[in-house]
Amino acid sequence: MTNTTTIPTSLNFRDDCLEILNQQKLPHEIENLKLSSLNEFYDAIVTLKVRGAPAIGITAAYGLAITLNHYQTENLDEFILKFREDKEYLFSSRPTAVNLGWALNSLEKAIENVQSVNEAKTTLLHTAIQLHTEDEVICRQIGEHGLELLKDKSAIMTICNAGSIATSKYGTALAPFHLGSEKGKNFHVYACETRPVLQGSRLTTWELQQSGVNVTLIADSMAAHTIKEKKVEAVITGADRITANGDTANKIGTSMLAILCRYFKIPFYVAAPSSTFDLTLPAGTSIPIEERAPEELTELNGHKVAPQGTQVYNPAFDVTPHELITGIITEKGVIYPSYEENIASMISGK
Ligand code: MRU
Repeated sequence: MTNTTTIPTSLNFRDDCLEILNQQKLPHEIENLKLSSLNEFYDAIVTLKVRGAPAIGITAAYGLAITLNHYQTENLDEFILKFREDKEYLFSSRPTAVNLGWALNSLEKAIENVQSVNEAKTTLLHTAIQLHTEDEVICRQIGEHGLELLKDKSAIMTICNAGSIATSKYGTALAPFHLGSEKGKNFHVYACETRPVLQGSRLTTWELQQSGVNVTLIADSMAAHTIKEKKVEAVITGADRITANGDTANKIGTSMLAILCRYFKIPFYVAAPSSTFDLTLPAGTSIPIEERAPEELTELNGHKVAPQGTQVYNPAFDVTPHELITGIITEKGVIYPSYEENIASMISGK
């Protein structure tokens, strides 16, 4: 039996703006925001109105293409200079997800040989749309590969939101659940709430409920107990950057789950598109880890929960060493150890 499901999406291109689903307001308010100025694009990324590695990349690409479309000059050199300046600005918005730089570099490459400002403007818009539409196809492929690894009716745990609203559609870690729901499969997803920003409780629960997936929320500190008591059979997460040896940066708390999987002898899968691989970095120790504002920890919904002046350490991501990863699910197939060799051949064709 197959189900008719509603998989939410968060990005809609509207000619002179990008309409985004404001993820800050979910799940209690469905607010669509129109982004048209460079500052609006930058702010939306920094303040997590749009978030998730692929969605950040696509948004930044639209940001450049849409805003530069209004830049008044006939001089191609001047246009390229402005392109580079704005590109650097958007690039500085968040440091960990490599998809941001990847998308912006894809635009730069696309206009390498253009002959006029008009041609550059059209090419930028065309490339941004292409990145957006290709991502949906890629995520669906990730979902198909992931589905082959997960047993119907099993309990699976995830963290953060690596879902349809973090990509064009379907997501990465959540893609098998959306596709499974379409195909009449019944997974039971345990969603870690994902402190401090609560992508799990605010976004993953909402997104999976929209598409009819059975989802149960737990606090991050309940992961070990839940794996044991609820017979969780696998953990699947997204990724923000995967280095040449398979080390993977993802939302803070991910490496803790990978360590638990090793203890409980269950598989730990990472799901990510090729654009999340950064083969210029040999290992995870070189990945820049974003540190965010202390208020994310000292306040809850604007209410102070820690004494005034409390010292805070708030890294947004951690790195899971490749030895703890059972397999990396990509659009090209599943990559297994030895990662260094297999990533090189699957991702860069070497
Ligand atoms: O800080 P966020 O919410 O942007 O972090 C997102 C994650 O860590 C996701 O797991 C990752 O970007 C993959 S999204 C398909």
